Amino acid sequence: MKGKTVIYPGSFDPFTNGHLNIIARASEIFEKIIISVGHNTSKKTTLSTEERVSLIAEVTKSYPNVEVESFEGLLVDYIRKKETNTILRGMRCHSDFEYELQMATANKLMNEEVETLFMVTESQFSHISSSLIKEIISLGGSAKGFVPAVIEEKLIEKLCPAEERRKQ
Ligand code: COA
Repeated sequence: MKGKTVIYPGSFDPFTNGHLNIIARASEIFEKIIISVGHNTSKKTTLSTEERVSLIAEVTKSYPNVEVESFEGLLVDYIRKKETNTILRGMRCHSDFEYELQMATANKLMNEEVETLFMVTESQFSHISSSLIKEIISLGGSAKGFVPAVIEEKLIEKLCPAEERRKQ
């Protein structure tokens, strides 16, 4: 039996096949998943918020219980306005743990109602990161298998236009 709505927040610059794998598995467990595109102040994004929301909506459209939106400001303030108090995050490797623990603890201190749940990323995706994908594409490489095709196309357009690819 499925229960509960969860918020799956991230900067998703870009949304990867690893993120998609979490959604595929979580959609079997939770009643509803709201993918919430937020801003990580330590990151400068390549894709605009609108581009990220629309690309994520496109690649998750086969999941009827998944919605996509963006939020401004603190996650804990955004979550106060939603129908859930639960955050879902993926955990790839040991080094993610410290950062995730810090974020979950800070969120809990700011809003006692908030609960954070973690899903372990499947091993074939544990080496993927959004910045790695951007680096590969900007140097003319292929990110096939790391991101959905439509997202790879958008990144190529932004990071490595045809003229540049011809030179490489
Ligand atoms: N598969 C593959 N990669 C994954 C993954 C998975 N299942 N899960 C995470 N990642 C990777 C991403 O590719 C990304 O790589 P990058 O660091 O190279 O960009 C990294 O892990 C995490 O990025 P992402 O999943 O996009 O989330 P984030 O950590 O950038 O998101 C926010 C952080 C937006 C949730 C957080 O900054 C936030 O809440 N911001 C709002 C302001 C706020 O409340 N701040 C206080 C927080 S305590």
